[in-house]
Amino acid sequence: MTDVGRHPKITLHTMSEISDVKGYVGNFKVKILKRARYVEEKECTACGDCVKVCPVIRPDEFNMGLSSRRAIFSPFPQAVPSAYAININECLGHNPSVCAKCVEACDKKCINFHMSDEEIVEEVGTIIVATGLTPYDPTELDEYGYTRFQNVLTSLEFERLVNAGGPSKGKLIRPTDRKPPKSVGFIQCVGSRSLGKGKEYCSNTCCMNTIKSTLVLKEHFPDMEIKVFYIDIRAFGKGFEDLYMRSKRLGVQFIRGLPGNVEETAEKSMRVAVENTATGKLEFHDLDMLVLAIGMEPAKGTRKLQEMLGLQLTPDGFFLEAHPKLQPVDAATRGVFYAGCAESPKDIKESVTQASAAAARAIRLMHKGEILTEPITSEIDVNLCKSCGKCAEVCPYNAISVNKKEKIPAVVNTAACAGCGTCAAECAFDAIIMNHYTDDQITHQANSMLEEEPESKILVFACNWCSYAGADYAGVSRLQYPSNVRLIRTMCSGRIDEKFIWQAFKKRAPVVLVSGCHIGDCHYINANHWTEKRIAKVHKKMEKLGIRPDRLQLKWISAAEGILFSEFMKRMEELRKGVSVEEIDATVAILEKPEKEKK
Ligand code: FES
Repeated sequence: MTDVGRHPKITLHTMSEISDVKGYVGNFKVKILKRARYVEEKECTACGDCVKVCPVIRPDEFNMGLSSRRAIFSPFPQAVPSAYAININECLGHNPSVCAKCVEACDKKCINFHMSDEEIVEEVGTIIVATGLTPYDPTELDEYGYTRFQNVLTSLEFERLVNAGGPSKGKLIRPTDRKPPKSVGFIQCVGSRSLGKGKEYCSNTCCMNTIKSTLVLKEHFPDMEIKVFYIDIRAFGKGFEDLYMRSKRLGVQFIRGLPGNVEETAEKSMRVAVENTATGKLEFHDLDMLVLAIGMEPAKGTRKLQEMLGLQLTPDGFFLEAHPKLQPVDAATRGVFYAGCAESPKDIKESVTQASAAAARAIRLMHKGEILTEPITSEIDVNLCKSCGKCAEVCPYNAISVNKKEKIPAVVNTAACAGCGTCAAECAFDAIIMNHYTDDQITHQANSMLEEEPESKILVFACNWCSYAGADYAGVSRLQYPSNVRLIRTMCSGRIDEKFIWQAFKKRAPVVLVSGCHIGDCHYINANHWTEKRIAKVHKKMEKLGIRPDRLQLKWISAAEGILFSEFMKRMEELRKGVSVEEIDATVAILEKPEKEKK
């Protein structure tokens, strides 16, 4: 951190938050709200004279509230820059009659109450999102008594307690009597791997963090009784199994089973009731102190940043990478990369590895000074564009700008456009032309597939990244599916314009399937949300026109779901068999009617 602070080419904005991001790869404009420090950063030497006289005492967040700080403070000992800051909401005020003791105490005259929050705009070529994590708050798990019993701590509180720079200067003491505990218990997976309260995912670091803590305790207190309550131990990193074994050899007891209840005894010890799933017996363990190995949650503000940068989130709320194997540090938005727990729960080693990779990816891009983009982008036909703004609204990359007020036709930023085709599918005036996967190409493919015996065909629109790959996977896995399936590939299911569907029905298609990536997995951020909405709209229209809506199906199939693809095609074949020639004739007759008569 000190190196970063001193680096001539790194500008560090502390006490700041991003308020807006505009632009695209190579040309991002980032608005930063920099909070006032009320202390001149360059002059302050962190001598501490001001802290000594500040009368305001508040819990120290860095020590998890186990110690206190003043209203003028340094967030933690190695903070960069090495200057104090005033929490103005806690400060008693700078009017001398109220307080201003710090002003008097500071020889260098660093305190400046006239400072105000600033708005800074930085122009950058690439962005690395490293927003970190939020620790899980176990208060809702009442059975563990976190807020009821003082001797129940979270793993982070425990970490501060045994740290030499922590509130007890590294001495392990029980919060109730300030005496060293003789026995300590650890409960694993608190807030992780839970189908009830907490999160479903594994927080990745808790097992090894607990094992590390047991080793530290055994090193300092060889006779201490240590018990770990767990579901299973995940020690899959380099050297991790050795640490686990060492912990066991040193006498740490690993008890398989998560406690159902924790009670406090008269001596302020914790009585843990647990079903030992290895023996099938209910056990009670009295421990002087209990540590909850809490999980991780996405950082606060993740959703706000996601909206600003047009990024994707996983169902767990972490940022989603462009591809888990081939682009594990890239965001779907070009020029944006991820590092650390922003993307998923990670330990230090994984975070450092990913941060190095993200930095290398960003440097590579900036070093080149230019980017090669795929030619699959959209263009506006200015003669047809009515400046309605629908394309700009649906574009997942904010690549389209339009001036609705002055009726200026839309403009596509081809560097930002990823070519999903959602804009073209949503444009009611056919004013958007896709370069590649054009309307003509798609319509001609459908027409030729339905040229002979259309009543016997199953027409499938499949997105390139998931469903088409799923079909491929079914093929290479030698899975059987009906031979009358005809696939049309598009980059994204968002590209499927409703006119392609009507055209297919006009051409006597008995059934049509639109298929794409699962919601949340679309390679164009959230383009398939628009597919879903569009298909729902078409279903309604079909119903109104007297066409059976189930003849149009929407199915999310991933690249790994070859079996699902083959099974669903069999279901489509059953559906097709249920569509009679008379029904197809009637559909064609309805669709051939002039628009006015259809209504
Ligand atoms: Fe598959 Fe968008 S890329 S649905």
